[in-house]
Amino acid sequence: MNKKKSILITGGAGFIGSHVVRLFAQNYLNYQIYNLDNLTYAGNLENLKDVENSPNYKFIKGDITDENFINSIFNKYRFEAVIHLAAESHVDRSIKDPLAFVKTNVIGTMVLLNAFKSCWQGAFENKLFYHISTDEVYGTLGQTGLFTETTSYDPNSPYSASKASSDHFVRAYGETYGLPYVITNCSNNYGRHQFPEKLIPLFINNIINEKSLPVYGDGNYTRDWLYVNDHAIAIDLVFHKGLNAETYNIGGFNEWKNIDLVKLLCKQMDIKLGRLEGSSEKLITYVKDRPGHDLRYAIDANKIKSELGWQPSVTFEEGLNKTIDWYLNNKEWLDNVTSGEYQSYYTKQYS
Ligand code: NAD
Ligand code: TYD
Repeated sequence: MNKKKSILITGGAGFIGSHVVRLFAQNYLNYQIYNLDNLTYAGNLENLKDVENSPNYKFIKGDITDENFINSIFNKYRFEAVIHLAAESHVDRSIKDPLAFVKTNVIGTMVLLNAFKSCWQGAFENKLFYHISTDEVYGTLGQTGLFTETTSYDPNSPYSASKASSDHFVRAYGETYGLPYVITNCSNNYGRHQFPEKLIPLFINNIINEKSLPVYGDGNYTRDWLYVNDHAIAIDLVFHKGLNAETYNIGGFNEWKNIDLVKLLCKQMDIKLGRLEGSSEKLITYVKDRPGHDLRYAIDANKIKSELGWQPSVTFEEGLNKTIDWYLNNKEWLDNVTSGEYQSYYTKQYS
């Protein structure tokens, strides 16, 4: 029997990572999937209950910044490919504690790159380092235009600066050491298992609990939203068909001003909760703006569409509907993740 291909997925207990782990564990029985995660507040093994006993899946608890540990698992498991999602991922937290983002997103990526490089010592045939990044590295758009793969990097938040830095290091290792890599830069994701600090799950949770909905500034900021399952499908495609040293932008072709999105969410939630029309909208509260708030993100995803044949499979209305239903049917998950650390974060961020 052929040996299974050994694949390391970092951050697999998080929001997007858990969708990627599930998709790979279910679809590729010829791969041995190792999920490395140190289970920060954002990591939750509950997200992977349905695959935890799969024979081709193993969880490893560990920190990507721990050089000795990372080198030891590379030596032990000889990962032929890495799909790197582990990161500190929330802009507001990066404003409060930028150094934590440098440690995980920059140093952690460097540690993985070094381990991958020394494990394979230049024998890079059929190997791949796949780095998952964000559209936020491009900075902000005005009212028009789209981010393409050749848009210059111009990050504005500590989060996006740390992701931009890690992207640069991945490219530099490709140029300097011939390390095979691919990078994707994706727009805002939404879907089940997203930690309720990001806009959509935070507001769903607050509507359920009839708490105020803190809209930053005037609410006229624009994001391009993609259903997380469609992101995982795009990652699968790029992993198998993407070309070495290429970047692909991934987006939903789906721009929404925050305030319009929040009003749509309120409307759908009123119906689902059997509340009076307009009652959730009354919870909207305009609060102090986020410092350095990027006005608009919008992705031109035509490269991945034309070269790899990917496009989103669900409309925003469908995706949002499924997402709301999931949170309403999984209140226990919400209650679990919003106890403990969440309470002190919430008070610091919104008081
Ligand atoms: P998340 O915060 O939900 O999950 C991050 C995961 O990484 C968690 O499971 C956490 O425990 C783990 N992690 C954090 N620090 C670690 C460390 N030092 N060692 C090991 N594991 C660690 O994030 P997400 O939203 O799923 O994002 C995943 C990746 O996708 C990130 O790289 C992010 O920059 C990128 N991305 C996210 C979005 C989005 O909308 N959420 C959009 C584009 C790109
Ligand atoms: P977020 O989900 O944090 O993603 P990102 O900052 O990576 O785009 O925020 C999405 C948008 O919603 C962004 O413009 C900030 C805004 N926002 C609010 O208005 N209120 C909130 O409480 C949060 C968390 C975000």
